[in-house]
Amino acid sequence: MSAAPPVQYHALGRSSPGELAAQAREGLLRPAAQVSPKFFYDALGSRLFEAITELDEYGLTRAEGAIFEAHGRTIAHEARSRIASTFDLVDLGAGDCAKAGRLIPLLQPARYLALDIATEHLRPALQRLQEAHPELPMIGIGTDFSERLALPRTLCPGPALVFYPGSSIGNFDPEAALRLLAQARELAGGGALLIGVDLVKDRAELEAAYDDALGVTAAFNLNLLRHLNRLLGSDFDPRQWRHLARFDAARSRIEMHLLAREDLTVRWPGGQRHFAAGEGIHTENSYKWTLPDFAALLCDAGWRRPRHWCDPARGFAVVLAS
Ligand code: AVI
Repeated sequence: MSAAPPVQYHALGRSSPGELAAQAREGLLRPAAQVSPKFFYDALGSRLFEAITELDEYGLTRAEGAIFEAHGRTIAHEARSRIASTFDLVDLGAGDCAKAGRLIPLLQPARYLALDIATEHLRPALQRLQEAHPELPMIGIGTDFSERLALPRTLCPGPALVFYPGSSIGNFDPEAALRLLAQARELAGGGALLIGVDLVKDRAELEAAYDDALGVTAAFNLNLLRHLNRLLGSDFDPRQWRHLARFDAARSRIEMHLLAREDLTVRWPGGQRHFAAGEGIHTENSYKWTLPDFAALLCDAGWRRPRHWCDPARGFAVVLAS
């Protein structure tokens, strides 16, 4: 028998399947077709992303882990001293809760709030973490904070340490990133932010991280078409598409696209879209920041006193701000 109570869950402002389908259709019908990267994360997509984090070419997750391994105590000590009272740990995009799980003993938050769009993945992981820390109140929140990050005061009265690891901030364009960071500051209620950010590096290294030898990232990108088929009732055939990842240095971002291998028409109930051979669907941007530019972004969002820790190769940074 487990000593831990079942974790409470809340669903907040999540789009219905019908609304998600409408968003996807709207993107597919734009002159340059585009769909949000949130459509990557069905059950298989979440597992493929976990596999990506283990690839030789994708160093982000290991670099961030190495930073917490080497500096976790200092980071936690400084975070605690900046907040000065008890605080909640609010984990944005908690996934398997592994990163927060390693920090909890160091941070000793009053409560742990785990937010994620994909709750099928979150629920078992959070329950396991609750078994490991039966005395720590934990709440799971199913929400799509890419549109707007806010929690009712009853759920998060503040102060909070907002934890946003993995460089997921890179999947927002600078304007949307600024908005999200400003909303995170509101949510923190006088607390702090602990965020992971991938840094600009050599083009070949960046492009390999998003186009690996085993084709796992290609499968992750192509799986979006299967997800769209279920959501829209469309007839995408993944074999007719190929994966493209390229670094746009002027915009400092990796772009991922799916390109039609041949002329084709995709149909769904009530609509269709023709793609000429080589025409694409833009599926993701992953911005790479320099430390000064990221510090300026944080400052524009209202955060102060950014302090960073880097991995030995200086390819990734963990930044604390308050
Ligand atoms: C979740 N996010 C930070 C990943 C990234 O690196 O932009 C998603 C990803 N896309 C392709 N590989 C990984």
